Amino acid sequence: MRFLKSIFVIALFSTNLRAEPPKALDITVYRDANCSCCGKWLEHLKANNFNVKDIVTNDVQTIKQNHGVSDKLASCHTALVGDYVIEGHVPANDIMKLLKSKPKVIGLAVPGMVNGTPGMEMGEHKNAYEVVSFDKDQKTAVFSSYEASK
Ligand code: CU
Ligand code: CU
Repeated sequence: MRFLKSIFVIALFSTNLRAEPPKALDITVYRDANCSCCGKWLEHLKANNFNVKDIVTNDVQTIKQNHGVSDKLASCHTALVGDYVIEGHVPANDIMKLLKSKPKVIGLAVPGMVNGTPGMEMGEHKNAYEVVSFDKDQKTAVFSSYEASK
């Protein structure tokens, strides 16, 4: 019996050794039903190995308030990933960078609706924009910046 058990353990262990694709990251997104750019941002996340829980609500405002997102930082959708809040059209890369570097902030935001951010692509031109981090006192800092397309 003990012998069988150890074979079982070895079998379990060796399946873990196989090179598996990186685990999808769970993210919960709150959005309004009438927001089409939100849907495009969700596609962007899925394409970058996020496991998206899509929650449609008619009160994104309360979600924002409850998670420390001020009006100044607000965009269309609000997402929760790990211990962080993601507001607006934040690129998946920045979310991954946030989860790795674990700064002491509430989360990241791209305030408003900037043309050229993931999910907000309109034609060829992309505007310059910044992803900012924000803390509980609503203090912001530039987390990463993107240049305008030529
Ligand atoms: Cu949007
Ligand atoms: Cu949105």
